[in-house]
Amino acid sequence: MNAPPEGETGEADKRVAQAFGGPRQPVFRVPAAEDGVRVSRLIAGSPPLDTNSAYCNLLQCSDFAGTCVLAEREGEVVGWLSAYRRPADPECLFVWQVAVAADARGEGLAGKMLDELLVRPAAAGANALATTITAANAASWRLFETFARRHGASIDRSLRFDREAHFAGAHDSEWEVRIAPLHTHSD
Ligand SMILES: CC(C)(COP(=O)(O)OP(=O)(O)OC[C@H]1O[C@@H](n2cnc3c(N)ncnc32)[C@H](O)[C@@H]1OP(=O)(O)O)[C@@H](O)C(=O)NCCC(=O)NCCS
Repeated sequence: MNAPPEGETGEADKRVAQAFGGPRQPVFRVPAAEDGVRVSRLIAGSPPLDTNSAYCNLLQCSDFAGTCVLAEREGEVVGWLSAYRRPADPECLFVWQVAVAADARGEGLAGKMLDELLVRPAAAGANALATTITAANAASWRLFETFARRHGASIDRSLRFDREAHFAGAHDSEWEVRIAPLHTHSD
């Protein structure tokens, strides 16, 4: 049997793609400022993530584009990962947010976006990855634990932002996770 033709979109194509072994693989790419609005919408639809201002997502999609990953499938934004090199520790990649559209979860998309970050030219020379996670976010803990195991790295946890001291009781505490050592391309 032949694969479904490239370049077609719509519900009929999705059904054909599924009949031929599942939906098309997403494309991972560097975002552009024009993606900002769709990124904001994905984040707004991905609780418990904090929503961002449109301006914040525009800056991520432009100034920080090299360390941000957008996953697109059949023209839809289905995944987003924002990250930056820590100004005081540029060998550490700090992952700000990860979001996968509800109907694209459970396919390993978030893990693939983390792997994509490691091979980006903008990540060259980094040897650690950090993020923060609330205690109740089971999917996020699992995502980063599996990522650490896949890369043979160890994972350290420490309290970063405390519910009372830093959020005035309005947000759960954020636990910092640091995963190292990691291997990226050298400069
Ligand atoms: C967290 C999130 C990004 C994971 O996306 P995903 O593409 O479904 O993740 P993956 O398919 O790569 O799965 C990662 C692991 O988490 C597990 N997992 C997924 N959803 C889970 C859940 N609700 N509870 C527990 N584990 C879960 C998967 O089984 C997988 O485990 P494995 O590595 O042992 O196979 C997605 O659920 C999401 O967007 N959530 C809302 C926003 C959020 O909380 N973001 C993370 C904070 S930055």
